[in-house]
Amino acid sequence: MLVSPSLLSADFGNLQADVQRMNNTEADMLHIDIMDGVFVPNISMGFPVLKAIQKHATKPLDVHLMIVEPQKYISQVRDCGAEIMNIHQEACIHLHRTVQEIKAAGMKAAVTLNPSTPVETLTDIVAELDMVLLMSVNPGFGGQKFIPNTLNKVARLRKLIKETGSTALIEIDGGVNLETGRQLADAGADILVAGSFVFNATDPAAVIKELKNL
Ligand code: DX5
Ligand code: ZN
Repeated sequence: MLVSPSLLSADFGNLQADVQRMNNTEADMLHIDIMDGVFVPNISMGFPVLKAIQKHATKPLDVHLMIVEPQKYISQVRDCGAEIMNIHQEACIHLHRTVQEIKAAGMKAAVTLNPSTPVETLTDIVAELDMVLLMSVNPGFGGQKFIPNTLNKVARLRKLIKETGSTALIEIDGGVNLETGRQLADAGADILVAGSFVFNATDPAAVIKELKNL
């Protein structure tokens, strides 16, 4: 299993320390949540903070944009050092165009789906994607409870990926712990995002190791 710890649950008063702490774990990437108070009812961090994180992070940055009109910020996100740009399907009218632009900017393209958005909405684009991120909580906040229907969506997405010859990885975000992580591994997930489960632990590195072993 690949693991992408979400910095949303880190200590924002001392982000450098938490980023460096993640550098010294087996995490595969670092998940950064950007919110605009419009697409989701919360505001987290913006591009200057992302840029500051990049200065200290040695892990690839997996940037999850919970914002409207993400197509406006492609070059800015790239210049902040993102390896993967995650945009919400619900926020993009011209999803195909935006995916092409993200790839042309030199990043990996990922599309995120809210819990109520069916995976079948990606039928005609999944072959072009590097990753699909399924939200297993409603986006905007850390520490929420995992929505069990996500397991069904993972299985359906796995089938769709196979049928379309896509190489997209399946990432899951929200309410991940060892129990839900195990279920997600069985359902066919490739990458687990974990925020509160990692950062509220007394030994985050050990928790990351356990998730990786699922
Ligand atoms: C929520 C964010 C998540 C968040 C997950 O909208 O997209 O990445 O940090 O937090 P946990 O793992 O605590 O559910
Ligand atoms: Zn996220």
